[in-house]
Parts: sequence; C-alpha cells; structure tokens
Amino acid sequence: MTDEISALAEAVRGADSVVAFTGAGVSTASGIPDFRSEGGIWDRYDPSEFHYNKFRADPAAFWEKRIELYEELFSGDIAPNPAHDALAALESAGHLETVITQNVDGLHETAGSSTVELHGNGQRVACESCDGKEPLELAEGQIADGQLPPECPSCGGVLKPDTVLFGEQLPRVALQRAKQYAQNADVFLAVGSSLTVEPAASLPQIAERGGATLAIVNLEETPVSETAAFDIRGDVTAVLPEIQAVVETS
Ligand code: APR
Repeated sequence: MTDEISALAEAVRGADSVVAFTGAGVSTASGIPDFRSEGGIWDRYDPSEFHYNKFRADPAAFWEKRIELYEELFSGDIAPNPAHDALAALESAGHLETVITQNVDGLHETAGSSTVELHGNGQRVACESCDGKEPLELAEGQIADGQLPPECPSCGGVLKPDTVLFGEQLPRVALQRAKQYAQNADVFLAVGSSLTVEPAASLPQIAERGGATLAIVNLEETPVSETAAFDIRGDVTAVLPEIQAVVETS
C-alpha cells in the first residue's frame, strides 16, 4: 500500500462527508468497456450516432443499430466488481454519503450503494410521450418480436433507452443533488473517469471550491490531476478496496 493511499484512507476516515464520483473505469473490471480507453466504445461506435436528434429522426433505426450494444452492455451476467463493493461497504459503514455516477449500468445499485444517476440507467427504457419507465427487457422482447421502435405499454408512445444521449439535458433533479453533495463534501473521490464530459466533469471543481479535498483514482491523467490533493494513478479494483480496508480497520 502506498503512503498516498494510506493518507487518502486517513482523510476518508476522518471526514464528516465523503462523496464518490464514478465513471466507466469503475465498470471495466465487470466486463463493460469504457468509452475513451484503447478499444473503448467510442473506438467502435461513432458518438454522433448517439445524439438525441438521431434518435428523434428515426427511433426504429436507432434501436436496430443499438440493440446489440445495449445487450452487450446491460443484459446477461454483468456483476459488481471489488471497486463497486468497496464503495458500497464504505457507505454501509457510514464513511460515504453516496455515489454520484455517470455510469448507466446500474452496478452501484446492485452492489448496495445509494446513487445519483447523472446519465440515467440503461436497465430502463422511458416513454417519449408519458415518461413512463419500463425495464429494458420489455423493449428487448418487443424488438425480438419485430416491434420497432418499441412502444410504451401504457400510451403507445415511443420507448427510448433511459440514458442521457448527447444533446439531451441531464436529469435536473439529479444534477442539482450532485452539485449539493459536491459543495458539501469534505472529501470528493473522483474515480474511473476521464473527467472530460460536461457538466459532470465540473463537479470536482465545484467540490474543491466548496473546500473539499479532491482525490483522483484513475489509470490515466485527468484534467484536474495536477491540482488535486491526491492523484492516485492505479486500478480502482485494487485502490478502493485498500482504502476501504484501512478505513474499516482503523
Ligand atoms: N481503474 C482505474 N481507471 C480505469 C480503469 C480501472 N480499472 N479502467 C479504465 N479506467 C480509466 C480510463 O483510463 C479512463 O481515463 O477510466 C477512465 C474512463 O474514462 P471514459 O472512458 O471517458 O469514461 P467516463 O469518464 O465515464 O465518460 C464520461 O462520456 O461518453 C460519455 O456518457 C458517457 O458517461 C460517459 C461520459
């Protein structure tokens, strides 16, 4: 264990309010590719294909092209990994308030964390007309039966993945809650994110302006690595369990 990890664990243990902020790097060990690493999702798909205007122009085509990716990402046996488990354990031991996440895989909730889902949740679909929410499986079943685009069982409206597409606003309440948590945090743990997509990427600075100790845990450098109090370049599945172990044994 490095001195930096021990020092961060001490900061977490002594803090009144610790908030975690996660990105796709927390789920790569669960078999879900991140977006901007070598071989990530944006190496295989054109981000412009995931723009809300593309969906609205032709929802059937959007679903037809996306369903294999959504099934790769969200169906089947994806499970939390030690990084998810460490954050859930810190929260249940009273050392973490919540997990603000950009991820849409639902794995933090599965691990037992409370979350603020900034980019929605890919395990759900939402109706464009009545905003009713349904499990992804319902849309998958309709698509398998040739129903494109999938339709809302309540009002017949078009169903859309309940994730924030480029060009869409983030859920207002979630963003407001995330900003409040960041402003009130004593320690802000930004883990597994390139911190490049706004407005989520501004949360670490909001936390710092609110007086938080900013800690980055990431394989690669991020735009705030130089100014952060802690910049731990490592694997979240190793670092987060180490922090959790120190906090819980002290
Ligand atoms: N441990 C630590 N860091 C890791 C690990 C790991 N096991 N695996 C990957 N990483 C790091 C990568 O080095 C990268 O810097 O996680 C970061 C993931 O960055 P991105 O792929 O950009 O993902 P994220 O920051 O979550 O993207 C934000 O962009 O496309 C949108 O909506 C999408 O929510 C996503 C947002």
